[in-house]
Amino acid sequence: MKAATVKGYGSIAKVVVKEKKRPSPGKNDVLVEVHCSSVNPKDWKLNKAITALIPDVGFRPFIIGDDLSGVVVEKGSEVTEFDVGDEVYGMDMRLRTSACADYASIATSRIARKPANISHREAGVAPLAALTALQGFKIAELKRGQRILIIGASGGVGTYAVQIAKALGAEVTAVCSYRNIDLVKSLGADHVIDYTENDFTNNEDSFDVIFDATSYESAKTCASLMQQGGLFVTTFGQSKGFSSAIISRLFPVQHRTLAVTVESNTDDLNELTELFEKRALKTVLDSEFSFGDIDEAYQRSMTGRAKGKIAIKVLESNQVTRK
Ligand SMILES: NC(=O)c1ccc[n+]([C@@H]2O[C@H](COP(=O)([O-])OP(=O)(O)OC[C@H]3O[C@@H](n4cnc5c(N)ncnc54)[C@H](OP(=O)(O)O)[C@@H]3O)[C@@H](O)[C@H]2O)c1
Repeated sequence: MKAATVKGYGSIAKVVVKEKKRPSPGKNDVLVEVHCSSVNPKDWKLNKAITALIPDVGFRPFIIGDDLSGVVVEKGSEVTEFDVGDEVYGMDMRLRTSACADYASIATSRIARKPANISHREAGVAPLAALTALQGFKIAELKRGQRILIIGASGGVGTYAVQIAKALGAEVTAVCSYRNIDLVKSLGADHVIDYTENDFTNNEDSFDVIFDATSYESAKTCASLMQQGGLFVTTFGQSKGFSSAIISRLFPVQHRTLAVTVESNTDDLNELTELFEKRALKTVLDSEFSFGDIDEAYQRSMTGRAKGKIAIKVLESNQVTRK
């Protein structure tokens, strides 16, 4: 089968498609024919680390990609919840799902039925980013009527976060650049702050929850925006968010920082499915790349300017057979 892996070292490493052995599902896994996958910043951050640590001696054993949407073509001996022919989506991410491949084996506890009203493309980019938003709001116990500030509202995580926060009944103030104001408003944000024009950390407003999808901020930089007992939730993808989460855990600080570490489970994916099917949630697609152009998709993600999600079309619509 075809699968994406990394060739070369460090910053000049390229994502390439190669022949790999088709996996066999374990007893609690299904084998999914992958129709669509995506790129997440974690992918290229991990590539940089791996290409620096593992020398390129003709092959590296891993296949990249986390998110997938596709069709079950085989199932393990103990699988009862899914059948061959089911359309599913999800991710594994205990390091990597190996999703950017013709076929991926994945535990049934990490997938759910694909929302019936959306395409594999819209479903296949959603799991990691949308679950990050949903699980961030769960750890913050975001409630109806609460005021939330979402920083990085136009990215992969942010576009889902705005919609999920609205679906939970929160009043949403979104931070994005002038480029994305209309987009973020169209997703339901009640108020929008253009970070290129205004220093939002000096705003008069105060919030019950601050959700920083960028991880460029910390509870300290946003202290004046937080109500008594307010929570700062970070995706800790950058050093500032990461250190803020560690300091908050080690020392008593004025405002607690919570760090979301996304993981896939069927219950949370089912919640997303329900939101998609109620049309309370939709995927914002920044761009779509063919499997052969996967390196370009990574380059696009590395710009840090994606508006929503980047899709990888693993199965072309006119493709009939696979090896
Ligand atoms: N902990 C976890 O489990 C977890 C899970 C998922 C993601 N993450 C991390 O979360 C971060 C975001 O992920 P993502 O998928 O949303 O990334 P992304 O899609 O690449 O984010 C790109 C977006 O960020 C916006 N942006 C850039 N700088 C900004 C700023 N200073 N203020 C506001 N918006 C800004 C850009 O808008 P403009 O072009 O308008 O600036 C663009 O729309 C990454 O660091 C990722 O590694 C962590």
